[in-house]
Amino acid sequence: MDIRVLQPSDLPLIQHANLENLPENYFLKYYLYHALSWPQLSFVAVDVSRPKKTPYDYPKIVGYVLAKMEEEPTDGVQHGHITSLSVMRTHRRLGIAEKLMRQSQLAMVETFGAQYVSLHVRVSNQAAIRLYRDTLGFLTEKTEAKYYADGEDAFCMKREFSDIREQIDEARNKEEGESADTTEHQDEGEPVGDVGKAADKKRKVKVGRALGVGELVERDETHKS
Ligand SMILES: CC(C)(COP(=O)(O)OP(=O)(O)OC[C@H]1O[C@@H](n2cnc3c(N)ncnc32)[C@H](O)[C@@H]1OP(=O)(O)O)[C@@H](O)C(=O)NCCC(=O)NCCS
Repeated sequence: MDIRVLQPSDLPLIQHANLENLPENYFLKYYLYHALSWPQLSFVAVDVSRPKKTPYDYPKIVGYVLAKMEEEPTDGVQHGHITSLSVMRTHRRLGIAEKLMRQSQLAMVETFGAQYVSLHVRVSNQAAIRLYRDTLGFLTEKTEAKYYADGEDAFCMKREFSDIREQIDEARNKEEGESADTTEHQDEGEPVGDVGKAADKKRKVKVGRALGVGELVERDETHKS
């Protein structure tokens, strides 16, 4: 299984997966809007084990997360939002949704400095609620009555990014420490041998195979003004 960033060419397949898995569906242009505005945040899971019969075969996309940054956050805090997430029935309970979510969250912090991520989930969707709350550490902020078109309520959930920010800072500090070490041990001596000496005049060099390209030689331009 390959988890990679969503590409615009994946959009019809994502729309198909969304139609299969969720009652909340969108026009293709809404997916495109995500892919073009926040190309770092949405990911797909591709089943790479599927044999490609021709070079024109589409990849088999078995899961996706569509995510964005909140454009005008009411609380004034930079944060991400999960617009849609789903995994095909044939590929559930393999940890795919968890991986997609973690990749997107990391990108929100690394790319946009997001402080947290928010989402809505149907109050009846136990699988998704367990994924968000128990596996990923989301908290329920409030319940929004009749949020969905069919009248069902939604939990508004939120996950702070303080731990992810710390991990990124630690990794950066470690990297900086390592590169400072290598700079300290750099060789500062004089160059050894001919390396770095003024280059000789260009010489004619025969290149190519004898057959047909024997006359193809590098031009000597050293005498030109
Ligand atoms: C919700 C959904 C995305 C989960 O995808 P998934 O790839 O199967 O999830 P994961 O394998 O990453 O599961 C991670 C954890 O989530 C919880 N979980 C996932 N599916 C569950 C289920 N059917 N019942 C109970 N808990 C579940 C478990 O805690 C699981 O960890 P575990 O397998 O170690 O017990 C998938 O069921 C789905 O696409 N559902 C339909 C669309 C949908 O509801 N999307 C969410 C809209 S908000």
